[in-house]
Amino acid sequence: METDLYSGLQSVLAPAGPQADRIYALWWLFAVVSVVVWLGVAAALGLALWRRGRQPLAGPPRGEPGKVRAVAAATALTVATLFILVTASVLAGRPMGMPPAAALKPLVVEVIGHQWWWEIRYRDDVENRGFTTANELRVPTGRPVVVRAISRDVIHSFWVPNLVGKIDLVPGKINAIWFQADVAGEYRGQCAEFCGLQHAKMAFLVIADEPAAYEAWAERQRQPAAEPADPLLARGRDVFLGAQCSLCHTIRGTGAYGRVAPDLTHAGSRRTLAAGTLRNTRGNLGGWIVDPQHVKPGNFMPPTNLAAGDLQALLAYLESLQ
Ligand code: CUA
Repeated sequence: METDLYSGLQSVLAPAGPQADRIYALWWLFAVVSVVVWLGVAAALGLALWRRGRQPLAGPPRGEPGKVRAVAAATALTVATLFILVTASVLAGRPMGMPPAAALKPLVVEVIGHQWWWEIRYRDDVENRGFTTANELRVPTGRPVVVRAISRDVIHSFWVPNLVGKIDLVPGKINAIWFQADVAGEYRGQCAEFCGLQHAKMAFLVIADEPAAYEAWAERQRQPAAEPADPLLARGRDVFLGAQCSLCHTIRGTGAYGRVAPDLTHAGSRRTLAAGTLRNTRGNLGGWIVDPQHVKPGNFMPPTNLAAGDLQALLAYLESLQ
């Protein structure tokens, strides 16, 4: 299995946005308090064992009032510690639900969970400026992003540890969460609710770009698929439209409008295949198309039986969809 699918690390301990900063601070508070409590308990246990060893085995137990005071003090300290942790959790969690009022207009995206991939729809107030992509959520840095979380089948959960906590994608319900990426980079996201056989391979990338780079990307995504520039690519498009691919996938501008599988209009521009399972290279793509059940058993893509020349043309065409 390849390990270099993305450059960044999926970690709560490398925060890249305001919510992640709060979660990070909360993580440290819990870690430090837990370590101090553990050391205190271990020390008390050690002390008790040491004293027990020095006590005569026969005769009445000593120091009962002292023990009662010690237990009462420990109980009070425990309650106070838990109260501090609860308060810190609430203070960290509350602002996460509310986008900053005076900031830029948030970018609104719909993230739709499917077994086992992510459909991502960019809404736009202006007609025909919205677009759909898959398994890759590009966002501009420094701008709030509102995720409207929806599911088409079972419960999934959207989680990008470097940026924000989890939100469940529940069938028949729209949940919302917001986040902001302050540092440009790639952040791995993962489905965090068991959703069937390939739950573990239901990953995605959040790619945070400087605003100008994001706008350039979005503008390319709004365009329909590039026209084939040579006979090989034209043959590849014909293979796509002639085989069963177009029953499930959309390539805008070609007459392929399947809606049950990822939109491939700009498939060549994506980093990964099969929701973060493989790097998007020609060899991996060929293996995935010919035998997807080998790569990701149980997924809903059927194998495709193509002549070698047709497969090569199809791969060249899909790669050209930048
Ligand atoms: Cu989707 Cu786990």
